[in-house]
Amino acid sequence: MRQLLDIQFVPLSGEAAPTVLVLADDGVAFGSSAKRIDERTKGSLSKAAGAAEFKGKARSAIEVLAPAGIEARRVIVMGTGGTKTELDRLRLGGAAYGQISARKAETAVLVADPVDPGQVSEEVFAADLAFGALLRSYNFDKYRTKKSEADEEEKHDGLRTLSIQCGKPDAAAKAFASRRATAEGVFLARDLVNEPANALGPVEFAERLSELKSKGLTVEVLDDSDLKAMRMNALLAVGQGSVRPPRVVVMQWNGAKSKRAKPVCFVGKGVCFDTGGISIKPAGGMEDMKGDMGGAACVAGLMLALAKRNAAVNAVGIVGLAENMPSGTALRPGDIITSMSGQTIEVLNTDAEGRLVLADALWYASDRFKPRFIIDLATLTGAIMVALGKEYAGLFCNDDRFAKELEAAGDATGDKVWRMPLAKAYDRLIDSKNADMKNIGGRYGGAITGAQFLQRFVKDTPWAHLDIAGTAMDSGRTEINQSWGSGWGVRLLDRLVADNYEKVEK
Ligand code: BES
Ligand code: MN
Ligand code: ZN
Repeated sequence: MRQLLDIQFVPLSGEAAPTVLVLADDGVAFGSSAKRIDERTKGSLSKAAGAAEFKGKARSAIEVLAPAGIEARRVIVMGTGGTKTELDRLRLGGAAYGQISARKAETAVLVADPVDPGQVSEEVFAADLAFGALLRSYNFDKYRTKKSEADEEEKHDGLRTLSIQCGKPDAAAKAFASRRATAEGVFLARDLVNEPANALGPVEFAERLSELKSKGLTVEVLDDSDLKAMRMNALLAVGQGSVRPPRVVVMQWNGAKSKRAKPVCFVGKGVCFDTGGISIKPAGGMEDMKGDMGGAACVAGLMLALAKRNAAVNAVGIVGLAENMPSGTALRPGDIITSMSGQTIEVLNTDAEGRLVLADALWYASDRFKPRFIIDLATLTGAIMVALGKEYAGLFCNDDRFAKELEAAGDATGDKVWRMPLAKAYDRLIDSKNADMKNIGGRYGGAITGAQFLQRFVKDTPWAHLDIAGTAMDSGRTEINQSWGSGWGVRLLDRLVADNYEKVEK
C-alpha cells in the first residue's frame, strides 16, 4: 500500500512551519489568523499583495520570502475569490498543495481560516481543502529507480506532512475521515490504470483485488474453468487469443443494516490490454490500451472506498478481466459465439471486445444478484470522445430518475456525465442476418450502438452505462489530479450511493 500524505488538523495559531500558506478573499481581506501574521510582519503580506497586484482571484498565489517578525521562511498567499461549491474547495486545496509542493517543503502549514467559508461550516471547509490536497498529492513513480537532477527539482513527493490550521480541528479530522477513505479508493483506481500491462494482466488484477479481503470485502475470483462451466463464452472469446487466461472477480460489501437488503451493483470492463485482436489497432498510441481496464479499476476503487468509510449499503462490484491479443487461437471476424444469456453474437470486429466482456458480466450480475440497479463503466468506444471530448463521460440510462441522480452526483463531484440517447432505431443497427446480433453498428453513432448492445443483456433492471474512454485516462492534469490514470468515477459513484442509497432501505 502506498504511503499517503500525512494530513493533520491543528488549532489556529498552532506551531509554524518553514512554509505557510494563508488565504485571502477577493477583497484581499484575511481571516483572523492570517491577519495576525500580516500584523506581526508589519503588513508584509498586504504590501506584497499590493505590489504584485494580487486580487485574491480563486487559486491565484503570491509568495512572500523571508518575512521579518515570524519564523516561517516563506508565506504563500492564495486567493479564495468566488469559492462557493464543494468542488471549488477541493480545487482550492489542490492548488494549495501544488504551490506548497513546488517549493520542496517537507512540512507545511495551511491556515484554513477563510473570511467567509460560504455555505459550509469551518470544519467542512478545512476537510474539503484537505481532500483536494490529498487527491492532488498522488503520483505514480514506482518504476523510476533514478531521478535526474531536473526531475528532483520538479519532484512532487517532497511534502510529507501538511498541517491544516482551523477553528475546530477535531471536527475537521472527523469530517476528513470519510473523504480520506474515498481518496484511497481513487488512488487504487489510479494505480490500477497506471500499471503497465506486463505487470497487470487478468490474473494479477484478480490477485490485487483479492488483497481487498483485508479491508472487509468478500472477494471471489472465478477462473477460466469456472467461466467455462458458467458458459461465459463472450468473455472467454475475448481472452482466447492470449496466453494469459481471463478472470471474473466478484466483490461484495455488506454494510446495510439488513444483510438481505437488495444490493446496488457495479460492473467494470477490465480489458488489461486491448490490441484490437485480429482486427488489430494501428501502432500509434496503442500503449494507451493498458488503460482499457479503467472501468474495472473504478469499480475496485469504489468498493474499497465504500468499505473504508463503512457505507450503510449492500454493494456488489463485478469486473470482467481479459487480454485482447491476436494469435493462432484468437477470435476471428465472422465468428459466432453464444453468450451466457443464450443470445448469439456475430463478431464482425474483434476490436469491439469490451461489449463482449460486459455482455456476460452484466447478464451474470442481474441473474445472480437481482440488484436495485446496475451501473457499468467501460472505456468502450473512441466514438464517445468524438461526441463529448474528454470533459464528460457518456451516460446511457433506461430510467430518467436514475439518470438525474447520476447527473447531480456528477455536478457535485466534477466527474461529469452527459446523457446520450437509447432508442429502438439504434438497436436495429446491431441486428445481424447470421445471429441474434452483431458486435458493431454502422459508421455513425458508435458510442450509442455500443450501449444498445449492452442493453440487450440487462433486461428490466434500472441500468446505466458510463462510457469513460475519454475520462478514465489521459484526460488532462487538473488541480486535483496530476496522474495519467484519473480514478474517474470513484468519487461520482461514492457520492451517488451516499446521497441516494444509504438512508433508505428497500
Ligand atoms: N478500448 C477501445 C476504445 C477506446 C479507444 C478506449 C481509445 C480508450 C481510448 C475499444 O475496445 C475499441 O476498440 N472500440 C472500437 C469499437 C469499434 C471497433 C466499433 C472503437 O472505438 O474504435
Ligand atoms: Mn477494442
Ligand atoms: Zn477495448
